[in-house]
Amino acid sequence: MKIGLISDLHTDATEANRAIIPILIDAIKASELDVFVLAGDITPKLTDFYKILGEFAKANLTCRKFFVPGNHDIWVNEEANMTSAQKCLVISEICRDHGFYPLNESPQIIDDVGFCGTIGWYDYTYASDKYDFTQEQYAEKELMGAVWSDKRYVIWSGTDSEVSQRFEEELSQQIVTIKNEVERIIVVTHHVPFRACIRYRNELPWDYFRAFYGSVGLGDVCLQEPLVSHVLFGHIHYPVNQQIENVRAICAPIGYFHEQPSEDLETFIQNRLTCFTIAQD
Ligand SMILES: [Fe+2]
Ligand SMILES: [Fe+2]
Repeated sequence: MKIGLISDLHTDATEANRAIIPILIDAIKASELDVFVLAGDITPKLTDFYKILGEFAKANLTCRKFFVPGNHDIWVNEEANMTSAQKCLVISEICRDHGFYPLNESPQIIDDVGFCGTIGWYDYTYASDKYDFTQEQYAEKELMGAVWSDKRYVIWSGTDSEVSQRFEEELSQQIVTIKNEVERIIVVTHHVPFRACIRYRNELPWDYFRAFYGSVGLGDVCLQEPLVSHVLFGHIHYPVNQQIENVRAICAPIGYFHEQPSEDLETFIQNRLTCFTIAQD
């Protein structure tokens, strides 16, 4: 089974970000995938989200397509009159309408491989050891004039650590639901599952914002189940392909094209779409 991963398309960021969709679709076709995974952060704009998934639907890809939302996808504004949880449900509907399966709703099994998913969240367990900000200071999501935009645009019920724990428990429950029916499990999250994947800069305000990258508990749920062989994620805008104990942690983001990549877009996307094959009996 050949699986391909990408995340963080951020199609609203620049013209080049918007232009990648047909190029990405061509790269997916050329890769002859069985499963394509999109690990969140497409765009906060629902109308654009709908159009972009529509482009994938029109392409008639033969692979199965899995999605988990990113924090940018669940941003809401005052006019929208909905919470982030309600927006998650709308996103799931749009996914289903376009042949993407929202893994955060429930797990899926293909042959003997289980796929589980969650957006994940952050609880400040990735706070840098170098600084001693309080939990309240992290909850402010603002330092030295810079703001973590979730502060303005995310409406969850509960504190960040409650939200984070809720998603960890949902993931854990998904794993329990399918573990007796599969030979292995691949987990997809948006937020970062392992602290070891985070690059600290030893500089403020940068390291303050690392607290909003994910949670230790998210990775622990994956490490606790021996069937979990891969965790695919997004949110950070540099690629990761790293072994963490028994788990392969892979991040394959596009990120913001504020600076044009040194190679052409086609080559950049072919290289960034990270594919791996798992052996099956
Ligand atoms: Fe992102
Ligand atoms: Fe993100």
